[in-house]
Amino acid sequence: MEEPFWYGLALIIFTLLLKLSTTKLGQKHKKNLPPSPPSLPMIGHLHLVKQPIHRTLQALAEKFGKVLLLRWGSRRVLLVSSPSVAEELFTKHDIIFASRPRLLVGKHFAYDFTTVTLAPYGDLWRNLRRVMTLEVFSSARLAQFSSIRQGEVRLLLNQTVKSCAKSMTKVELKSKFTELSFNVMTMMAVGKRYYGENVLDAEEAKNIQKVIRDGVDISGATNFGDFFPFLQWMDMTGIEKKMVSLMAKMDNFLQGLVDERREILSATCGSNRKEVKKLMIDNLLALQEKEPQFYTDQIIKGIIMVMLVAGTDTSSATLEWAMALLLNHPEAMEKVRAEIDTKVGQERLLEEQDLPKLTYLQNVINETLRLYPPTPLLVPHEASEDCVVRGFDVPRHTMLFINAWAIHRDPELWEDPTKFKPERFEGWSGEGSEGYKLIAFGAGRRGCPGAGLASRLVRLALGSLVQSFEWERIGEENVDMSEGLGLTMPRAKPLEAMCKPRPLMLA
Ligand code: HEM
Ligand SMILES: *[C@@H]1O[C@H](CO)[C@@H](O)[C@H](O)[C@H]1NC(C)=O
Ligand SMILES: *[C@@H]1O[C@H](CO)[C@@H](O)[C@H](O)[C@H]1NC(C)=O
Repeated sequence: MEEPFWYGLALIIFTLLLKLSTTKLGQKHKKNLPPSPPSLPMIGHLHLVKQPIHRTLQALAEKFGKVLLLRWGSRRVLLVSSPSVAEELFTKHDIIFASRPRLLVGKHFAYDFTTVTLAPYGDLWRNLRRVMTLEVFSSARLAQFSSIRQGEVRLLLNQTVKSCAKSMTKVELKSKFTELSFNVMTMMAVGKRYYGENVLDAEEAKNIQKVIRDGVDISGATNFGDFFPFLQWMDMTGIEKKMVSLMAKMDNFLQGLVDERREILSATCGSNRKEVKKLMIDNLLALQEKEPQFYTDQIIKGIIMVMLVAGTDTSSATLEWAMALLLNHPEAMEKVRAEIDTKVGQERLLEEQDLPKLTYLQNVINETLRLYPPTPLLVPHEASEDCVVRGFDVPRHTMLFINAWAIHRDPELWEDPTKFKPERFEGWSGEGSEGYKLIAFGAGRRGCPGAGLASRLVRLALGSLVQSFEWERIGEENVDMSEGLGLTMPRAKPLEAMCKPRPLMLA
């Protein structure tokens, strides 16, 4: 909430004076609404929403309660910071809360609400989710794509060994991690890699990643038009214009991919075609031939975009936070290495089939996602009907935010909540109600379908790096763990570390 906020505020107060008669929201029939902190006329609680949002909302919950009803302009917001309430919402009320609010970002950045992430609950969403499960997330597809993940991780190791000779050398890891996850997504989707050797498109990929980041940034909770629909036509902050121009770049990139692939496919036939059939885009284009009215170019572009937007920065941020945590906790780094050396050895590189044996590594990732969930407020849901939550009336169209950050750091739920202690997950099954204490991937129908994919990629990459290199901080001081701004949670400072290859890498 920076300058545009205060312009907005001035404008709203002005409008308020002109309007004179204000409508009171939610006071008509509702008797038992959830508690609500004191609010201002018109803007409601928007003035309380300051960056970093997950922290200010955590403080609000500490002060006023774990189930709160806020008002952001003309929208009601249910803010939940408790795992048992999250459980109630994702089980008993799962269908009711399976929709998404119609925010501007969905109109401009999700092909008018036709991507799986932002589509309202209904047939279109169900179809998209089914197609993506079949093409990307099913266990068969996950297994098929394992060679892609291994190949890209191998590339990361090869490049790292090149940048760090035989003695301890400083390397920058953030860009290596985003390149890894971007490559994995584009390799699965279209069989192309944008980073690495003999690749001419790194510039293009960088531009697209910038578009994604800017898009995510401006779709944060600060968009006025979303909360004051009567002001939307003015586009006060220019956000809508920015979204349109970012999306034009994105669409240009995606359309290029689809056209290029369609051309290649129509030029290949017979045996060659079988070989390329594994790619997601080929299956989608085949479906387009059969059912052109559903599988339009827009739907196909939307599916690829979702993989890039939902899959890239989330996975690479997790990797970056995990590595930073290990650098600050050398004893944990040593424990990860000892586990790999015992269960895999130093004769060969870690492979995906080894992952189930590496329980400490899994615990490190769980602990990283607990402390630094990449989307600390998950993705907003919307109630499609009136319902009763914890005995409180929650009206239809209320927007739901679940503060995973607050749940993950609640001292009533976790011992030493801000401490990095992967051991806390030893023997933890995460089953039943326990599972809602760790909800970095959300839950229920709208829960993250990419969790399995992300978990494999992140464990494989982190495990391989620890197996193949010695790692140290670049100085005496601990790695700075402050989080950057935005609805997703990048590190404020890109991660750098010292590394030296282990014998395995020099063979
Ligand atoms: C560490 C990595 C990741 C984290 C922490 C994460 C987290 C999340 C969260 C919190 C949601 C919203 C859940 C809700 O609404 O309750 C979500 C949704 C989603 N994620 Fe992920 N995600 C990750 C990686 C991925 C990957 C790799 C992909 C795909 C390639 C992916 C695809 C999606 C999709 C498609 C949705 C929308 C689901 C829907 O609305 O039906 N995610 N993710
Ligand atoms: C990495 O390096 C090894 C050994 O030099 C080589 O065999 C392998 O093909 C390389 N892999 C990739 C993906 O570059
Ligand atoms: C945490 O670890 C358990 C196994 O120990 C796993 O089943 C679960 O998916 C993990 N949770 C997250 C959020 O990664």
